[in-house]
Amino acid sequence: MKAMMKYTTKFTSLFWDYIFRHIQKRFFGRPYFHGPRDRATIGKQVSLANTLLNTRSGKIVIGDHVIFGHNVSLLTGVHDYHQKASDRKTIADAGRDIIIEKGAWICSNAIIIGPVRIGYESVVSAGSVVTKDVPKHAIVAGNPAKIVRMLEPSEIPDIFKTSEN
Ligand SMILES: CC(C)(COP(=O)(O)OP(=O)(O)OC[C@H]1O[C@@H](n2cnc3c(N)ncnc32)[C@H](O)[C@@H]1OP(=O)(O)O)[C@@H](O)C(=O)NCCC(=O)NCCS
Repeated sequence: MKAMMKYTTKFTSLFWDYIFRHIQKRFFGRPYFHGPRDRATIGKQVSLANTLLNTRSGKIVIGDHVIFGHNVSLLTGVHDYHQKASDRKTIADAGRDIIIEKGAWICSNAIIIGPVRIGYESVVSAGSVVTKDVPKHAIVAGNPAKIVRMLEPSEIPDIFKTSEN
């Protein structure tokens, strides 16, 4: 009887785990597009998590093998703040592209503000606000994001062998 109770409890807990994971994935774990979806180009084996892709004022190009933590925002959209209040809703249609090169890791809660290019195999630390280009193999952090260090060849064994294309 005790063993049966144990298995029932375990089964119930697995069942609810499955349901919660499904709900979380279905409703909260999805990328969110704001603006035309066809302005976003997403490479192979990219894990987007729940990234916000705002394509209102530019393209977003994400290379292969780019990893996103949670709650990342990719923001191209910009209102025309040179206008008076009633006209500020105007949004530039282009010119704020965000390019994220192959293998970059964008950590949780990073905000990337276009126009900007994130370099090959670079790392954007958690909570960074990126407003300038990030060179390849750099680790950037902070607001505004600055280079904290460069990845060493010893940290990426194939650093000089891997391809940027
Ligand atoms: C990117 C990351 C992994 C780098 O870690 P690391 O290699 O151990 O970095 P280091 O400890 O060498 O940091 C170098 C410097 O940057 C600073 N730094 C690191 N992360 C930082 C951050 N998110 N914001 C501000 N500064 C940061 C460190 O304090 C250190 O400063 P110092 O040289 O003045 O001491 C880490 O910063 C990070 O963001 N982790 C979160 C990962 C995440 O989002 N995971 C979710 C799943 S994808």
